[in-house]
Amino acid sequence: MKTLVDTTFRALRFLPPETARGLALFGTRFLRPSRVVDSSRLQQNLWSLLFSNPIGLAAGFDKDATAVSSLGKIGFGFVEIGSITKSPRRGNRKRPRMFRLEQDMAIVNQLSLPSDGLQRVEQRLRRHYNRAQRSAESVRQRVRPVLGANISRDPDNLDAASCCEELVSCFQSLQPIVDYITLNVSCPNTTRRFIDIVPPKRIAKLVENMRAVEPGKRRIPLLVKISPDFLPNEYEALADLAIDGVFDGMIVGNTTMARTTELRSPDANEVGGLSGKPLAGGTNHLLAELYRYTKGKVVLVGCGGVFSVQDAMRQILNGASLVQLYTGLAYRGPRLVDQMRFEFSTMLRQYKLASIGDAVGKAVS
Ligand SMILES: Cc1cc2nc3c(=O)[nH]c(=O)nc-3n(C[C@H](O)[C@H](O)[C@H](O)COP(=O)(O)O)c2cc1C
Repeated sequence: MKTLVDTTFRALRFLPPETARGLALFGTRFLRPSRVVDSSRLQQNLWSLLFSNPIGLAAGFDKDATAVSSLGKIGFGFVEIGSITKSPRRGNRKRPRMFRLEQDMAIVNQLSLPSDGLQRVEQRLRRHYNRAQRSAESVRQRVRPVLGANISRDPDNLDAASCCEELVSCFQSLQPIVDYITLNVSCPNTTRRFIDIVPPKRIAKLVENMRAVEPGKRRIPLLVKISPDFLPNEYEALADLAIDGVFDGMIVGNTTMARTTELRSPDANEVGGLSGKPLAGGTNHLLAELYRYTKGKVVLVGCGGVFSVQDAMRQILNGASLVQLYTGLAYRGPRLVDQMRFEFSTMLRQYKLASIGDAVGKAVS
């Protein structure tokens, strides 16, 4: 089975990236559930949610929740679906709109948030939720990945009030059926940035409106996903909101439009969001900055350039409690996650740390 998965996965590299992503998603239903059991040293309780390990799937891989029930088999501690937009959209019409930068272990995408839309994604998540509820009753203590939904405004919508309405609708429909929600304020493939349309002060009001539609005492954790291209005053304004409790955490970060590093692949200058290895240095820098700025009081999620347990550990030492990956999975395949879970325990022993929680922010002075 192992060789079949590995061979199939290697074959996907010869297909156009968007086709490969579709087939990889479909293929997850044939995977056998991971047999690696997470050591309790990898567990963390954040926002009253139990994360069996700190490795998560980043948004963009399962945008429409078509594989949500099988992604848990890969061994992730958490899985983020989306970005979900209120109305269905096809994204950028131009093809191809995803490029593999093999020599740089990177991807450039100019998808511009295609989505099946809230209604269809909600239906799929609701089916998954009902199944998960039933199996939790029959198999007590079943470990399942924490499930997040990433929501975004339609990037073609440039009107502040209706952007906010879209996001409140997404929040309202999804909050009963997922464990946390991420507000994506950093989609790079857009004519006007979200934070230029809805600046941080107005974002606080938007979140107030989201909270107003939550029933009773429920208060779902709400994270904000920032861009590595934000200026210090921009990410600090969002960090201030997190310090004030408007957000429960920050995902650091999305793809970048910048091409500052030396890229060697032929498609390096394609316009679009760059992900993968070239993001790693900047992500670690930004994590450490934010960990310092928030005095370690805000939960940070590292995202950008994780291809190994060493990469993940570096982000944790720089302040991340959790890490997410996408491009690493595209290059290394689903076995990467088990390998990382296995190696994390050894790594903690090497660092003489009792748990992941003890490693968070240790490299930040
Ligand atoms: C093809 C592709 C599509 C993506 N789509 C989304 C998306 O819809 N929403 C989002 O918040 N991030 C999206 N991302 C960004 C990833 O979630 C992640 O932030 C970024 O790729 C950096 O992580 P990585 O280096 O591990 O890939 C996408 C990334 C890629 C490569």
